Amino acid sequence: MSIDKKFVDQLVKVTSKAALASSYFVGKKDKIAADKAAVDSMRFNLNNINMKGEIVIGEGELDEAPMLYIGEKLGTNHGPQFDIAVDPLEGTNFAANNLPGALSVIAIAEKNKLFKAPETYMEKISTKVNEKNVVDLDYSVKKNIFNLSEYLNKKPENLTACVMNRPRHNEIIKNLKELKVKIKLITDGDVSGALLVTDDKYSVDIFLGIGGGPEGVLAASALDTCNCSFQGRFLFSSDEDKNRAKKMGINDLTKKYELNEIVTGDSIFCATGITSGDLVEGIKIQDNDFISETMVTHKSSGLKKVIKLKQNLS
Ligand code: FBP
Repeated sequence: MSIDKKFVDQLVKVTSKAALASSYFVGKKDKIAADKAAVDSMRFNLNNINMKGEIVIGEGELDEAPMLYIGEKLGTNHGPQFDIAVDPLEGTNFAANNLPGALSVIAIAEKNKLFKAPETYMEKISTKVNEKNVVDLDYSVKKNIFNLSEYLNKKPENLTACVMNRPRHNEIIKNLKELKVKIKLITDGDVSGALLVTDDKYSVDIFLGIGGGPEGVLAASALDTCNCSFQGRFLFSSDEDKNRAKKMGINDLTKKYELNEIVTGDSIFCATGITSGDLVEGIKIQDNDFISETMVTHKSSGLKKVIKLKQNLS
């Protein structure tokens, strides 16, 4: 069973309206308000869609998040059953400080076809090369770069690697520097970072490093449609996190997940810009209208494009 294409249009409207709602808080130094605006809007609009949806990745467990919590049922309760992963505001720092790259993101998949990722860190790697044994989480940074260099027939100094600027990545950055790889250092927003390998226009050959697990699953759904590679491995820092993961059905806590274990069916991914960034432009208001740009993928139809929409503000 594939997901009807009509849901693409409906979901683009959901993320574009969430992005608009959050855009009113851009530069207001208030991450919580910017996030809440996106969450409220996303939840309201998802509830108008004819589907039986369930949040598998959201704002947290019910005790921490009153809305879009894991397990929350959404939609009119008529129509197909979907797993839903949301990040209504990806890049809270970007929105609060009026910096490039804040997005409103959603991915839906057929029921039970999207990995239920715990709220923990994930070691990730993505590339444009969808071939086994070229890059791998189990290889050293240098081996990955040499393999990619050989495969793409590009010298290491002509490769670009995207990495989040965190002290935990000092070793990765040191290795890349030694090989003279061009580093694209991002301060936040690793959904976008992982997706920069999806098109040559972004000039990124590989994304690697540790970021949020839920963000990893969201990016994986788009990478799946774009025929790119992705691997992820959860990292647990406390017994509480480990127990929570076990309750979610993760028995092997050190397992390396392949893309086809994270997204196992048809999916739709939408990411609308709140502030302009590498992937899409941010929200613009013109008289009584707002203009949004959304990166969209839909696996079964092979759709991968940026949809620009002009919608009325009312
Ligand atoms: P928020 O939107 O929740 O602030 O997340 C931004 C982000 O940069 C993610 O893209 C990334 O996965 C995560 O934070 C990294 O976490 P940390 O800041 O703890 O390194």
